[in-house]
Amino acid sequence: MTRPSPETISSPLPAPEEKHDYVETMFDAIAPRYDLLNSVLSLRLDSRWRREAARQAELEAGDQVLDVCTGTGDFACELTRWVGPSGAVIGTDFSKEMLRWGEPKLPKYPNVRLQWADTQALPFPDAHFAAVTVAFGIRNVADIQRGLAEMARVTQPGGRVVILEFNRPTNPLVAWGYGLYQKLMPIIGGIISGRRSAYAYLPASIDAFHSREALAKLMEEAGMHSVKITDLNFGTVVIHRGIKK
Ligand SMILES: C[S@@+](CC[C@H](N)C(=O)[O-])C[C@H]1O[C@@H](n2cnc3c(N)ncnc32)[C@H](O)[C@@H]1O
Repeated sequence: MTRPSPETISSPLPAPEEKHDYVETMFDAIAPRYDLLNSVLSLRLDSRWRREAARQAELEAGDQVLDVCTGTGDFACELTRWVGPSGAVIGTDFSKEMLRWGEPKLPKYPNVRLQWADTQALPFPDAHFAAVTVAFGIRNVADIQRGLAEMARVTQPGGRVVILEFNRPTNPLVAWGYGLYQKLMPIIGGIISGRRSAYAYLPASIDAFHSREALAKLMEEAGMHSVKITDLNFGTVVIHRGIKK
């Protein structure tokens, strides 16, 4: 049977029951060019956004942290700066190719480990980590509520859950400019990665994603409280930080 992929589906968004396999196949395919495209499409601002999200995890030296949907591991590597040599960061993802392209970064970050895992069924005990993070990943998880519940489950009570994600700007002028930029994404993404359809998925998935308030509510339903929302980059990138009950 053919797995759903950007090449076998005409709409930029897969049907809900196909999303899991579609997303895995898509990230396996774009993995070789993923880091380059991130830098180009964000004008190299992505590392600054990850740094601010890491700061909001309020980590201490020696903490154990989990970064889900870690892809090529950039956020996991950023987090190690905050936990020091006595801490540890595990980065998990279900795309074997994304993890493979992250491996060469690890010699510089000895306390990061990359591991295959589905965010919807994390292979870790309850209340294990001081913080659990996700950067530009939760939007791609097929069952977002289940992913959030798993992230909350493995976080210690009082620990932080930090979500860095694209969202829709609320200022109408910024929204207009962002709309133009979204039209360019598939063209630039297509030229650099050779997978235009994958980069048509990106703006479509941002448009279809939960509002800031709806995501905060889902986090509360998943077992977090005091959810704080921080807009970055004129509201096109948003951090949600919740505390595990
Ligand atoms: C846009 S990338 C983000 C990668 C990285 N966190 C970053 O900041 O660049 C989204 C990642 O989510 C992963 N992903 C989506 N659904 C997943 C799931 N259910 N379980 C594990 N990984 C998943 C994809 O494989 C992909 O690597």
